[in-house]
This record gives sequence, structure tokens and C-alpha cells, in this order.
Amino acid sequence: MDAKTDSSTLSKSPFYSQHSLLLRIWHWLTFLFIMGSIVTVLVNSTVLSPRENIKLVQEQLQKKGVTVTDEQAFAVSHEYEDKMWDVHKLIGFGLAALFLFRILIETVVPSEERIINKFRKAKEIQRLNDNNKTEYTHYLRVRLTYSIFFLLLFCMILTGLGMAFGRDLGFSRDIFRSIKNFHAFIQYLIYAFIVVHLVGVILAENGKLKGIVSGMINGNKH
Ligand code: HEM
Ligand code: HEM
Repeated sequence: MDAKTDSSTLSKSPFYSQHSLLLRIWHWLTFLFIMGSIVTVLVNSTVLSPRENIKLVQEQLQKKGVTVTDEQAFAVSHEYEDKMWDVHKLIGFGLAALFLFRILIETVVPSEERIINKFRKAKEIQRLNDNNKTEYTHYLRVRLTYSIFFLLLFCMILTGLGMAFGRDLGFSRDIFRSIKNFHAFIQYLIYAFIVVHLVGVILAENGKLKGIVSGMINGNKH
């Protein structure tokens, strides 16, 4: 389709494009895994925070007649945090597998459902000058946001795997720390995407794009 294409040939909004079953399964599994990953981060920074639990360990041991220093109590409370990081790592491996799965899905879904082709289409229809120009511009922005998300997820997986296997790969302390800081920073961009995405689909569902959410469940099959 080129800039001269009449948008009247587009019977419906581009937001109602079809989603193959595999894409829907990928979407909802990715949603679950990312939420699971965030829960482990939240639990570690609250309930299982090693510093917050030093007093608790000391009090419990005191009741059994044992007195330990802050450092000794920290060694115990830290272990619980590490156990939760192991869960985080496992979920992370799941996310890495889902990313690979998504690459495979791209090779089997109909051509118009591929990320790159959706982006191309978004760019093409955005050049049209008709009454729907605002919607096409919005659609292009939404597709851009998804592309950024895929890039962020890739960075998260790469840095996560870097930490998980860093010691085996012989990374120095400084490299490990830099990877960890980068991983910790990208989390905020992922959170930003999730907020924007959720607000976006809720507004769309309550506005002109009714059924957009159920489309991610039933695939928008007409
Ligand atoms: C959206 C998904 C993810 C979020 C929000 C997230 C967030 C975080 C955060 C906040 C930390 C703590 C960093 C710090 O202490 O400064 C962390 C650590 C870590 N993450 Fe992720 N992460 C995600 C995905 C992944 C993935 C895909 C992997 C891949 C295996 C992974 C592996 C790790 C590892 C190994 C650590 C270090 C844990 C430790 O200190 O022992 N993460 N993650
Ligand atoms: C961790 C949370 C989530 C992430 C990371 C996420 C990610 C994504 C991504 C990457 C896409 C583009 C799919 C593609 O083109 O292949 C997408 C589309 C979509 N998501 Fe989510 N999603 C999340 C949660 C949700 C939730 C909770 C809902 C429903 C309330 C939802 C509803 C939708 C809908 C309706 C679309 C299609 C909209 C469109 O065509 O632009 N998502 N999501």
C-alpha cells in the first residue's frame, strides 16, 4: 500500500488486526512471567529484605538463648533473599525461552501479523491524508512502543543471563556490577511500558476501540 492508497479500503481500525493463537498464548504467558518476575523483586525489597530482617533473626535466636551479631544475622536473612533470587532467575529463564518462542512464532504466523510487517503497515497508513490520520499516527506510536518494549526485554534477558552465568564466564566484579546496574535501571523502563500499555488498552476499550482487549483473547477472528 502506498501513500496514494484510499483508506476507505481499510474496513476497520488497524487496531482490530487478527492475532493468531500462538501470538495470544505468547502475550498472556509473557504477561504472567513478567508479573511473576516483578513479584519476586517486590518481595525481596520488602518482606525478604535482608537488612529489615536482621532484628527478626536476632529476636528469634534470642528466644532460644543464642545471641548473634548483626553480621551473623545478616548472613541468615540474606540466604532467604537469595532463594527468592533463584526463583527470579528461573522465571528469567522462562522469559528467555518465551523470547526465543516469539522469534519462532514470527516464522509461522501469517505475514501481516509479523512485528516487522505490522510496523511497515503502520508507517504506510500513517502517510495517508484522510479523516483517520490521527488514529493512524496513534497506531504508529503504539507500534513504536511495542518495538521499544521488545528491545528492552531483550536487554533484560541478556543482562539477566549475564548475571546468571557471569561467574562461569569469568566476569570481573566491576563488569558484574555494571551489568547488574544496567539490569536494575531497565526495570523502570519496563514498568513504564506496562503502565502506558495498560492505561492505553483500558482507555481504548472504554473509548472508540471497544473489544480491543477481547481481541487479545479471541484473536479478532471475523
Ligand atoms: C521484566 C523482567 C525483569 C525484571 C523487572 C527484573 C528485575 C531485577 C531486579 C530489580 C534485580 C535486582 C538488581 C539489583 O540488585 O540491583 C534483578 C536481579 C537479577 N535478575 Fe532480573 N529482572 C527481570 C528479568 C530477568 C531475566 C529475564 C533474567 C534472566 C535470567 C534475570 C536474572 C536476574 C539475575 C540473575 C539477578 C541477580 C540476582 C542476585 O542478586 O543474585 N532477570 N532483576
Ligand atoms: C506485563 C504486562 C504486559 C506486557 C509486557 C504486554 C505486552 C504486549 C505486547 C508486546 C503487545 C504487542 C503484541 C504484538 O504485536 O505481538 C501487546 C498487545 C496487546 N496487549 Fe499487552 N501486555 C501486557 C499486559 C496486558 C494486559 C493486562 C492486557 C489487557 C488488559 C493487555 C492487552 C493487550 C492488547 C489488547 C493488545 C493488542 C493491542 C494492539 O493491537 O495494539 N496486555 N501487549
